[in-house]
Amino acid sequence: MHPANRPIGIFDSGIGGLTVANAVVRLLPEEQIIYFGDTAHMPYGDKSADAIRYYSLRIAKFLLEQDCKMIVVACNSASSAAYDILLDFFEHRALFVNVVDPLVDKVAESGHRRVGVIATRTTINSGIYSARLRDRVPGIQVCSLATPLLAPMIEEGFVHDAISRSVLDTYLGDPSLNGIEALLLACTHYPLIRPEIEAWYQGTTAIYDSTDVVAVAVRKRLTDTGLLRQDPRPPHRFYVSDFTPSFEKTTRLFYGQELHLEHFGLWN
Ligand code: DGL
Repeated sequence: MHPANRPIGIFDSGIGGLTVANAVVRLLPEEQIIYFGDTAHMPYGDKSADAIRYYSLRIAKFLLEQDCKMIVVACNSASSAAYDILLDFFEHRALFVNVVDPLVDKVAESGHRRVGVIATRTTINSGIYSARLRDRVPGIQVCSLATPLLAPMIEEGFVHDAISRSVLDTYLGDPSLNGIEALLLACTHYPLIRPEIEAWYQGTTAIYDSTDVVAVAVRKRLTDTGLLRQDPRPPHRFYVSDFTPSFEKTTRLFYGQELHLEHFGLWN
């Protein structure tokens, strides 16, 4: 098979990474996606970095066995904890894209001087956004806040209602975020509440998430390496390491349509 006609692998701790997969599919409809959601281990946001590295390496191996030309680490927690080790092990076998660098690049270009980052505990504790932003924009002030309630809240469908309003009031009203010019939504799930967050700030703060910027980064890497698909694609595949009907239902939230999930017992 021509190397360009191989699929793109995308993985996440669960189904939240479908926000990224959806952005990639919209921008590159001719590409085939093989998605892996590690629903047996989600959430990653409260796991140790060592555990996330172990899971990520095994998932990447699975995606390489599916002959993926590129692996997109759609999960912010996995991008923070495991990206370097993924490159160490597998960079010679596929292209790798994470969700942190494209977002940092975008914000670095914008000229903001004081920015906020909200994400899971794993992502915030890794310090990756502050480190990368400070490398790119010397002197930038980065205000980081772990917002662990948001992902389960969104997954349970509490969006655009009294509960999400109250949780957002508490988090976004945290004094550590005072005076920010921009807020980075550094979690797969947060694009779903982006309109609420924008409404909360009433235009005073620019909001960035890692869906479209990641899709653009994917297209650029494939273009630069001559690996954009040439032939008609087979159907996408969506695998999960644990299956429940409710996971399948939740795909509608994150992907905009209900998907058929295939159970693959990676940990059995
Ligand atoms: N996918 C995770 C992230 O972007 C959020 C959900 C989880 O904690 O597993 O950090």
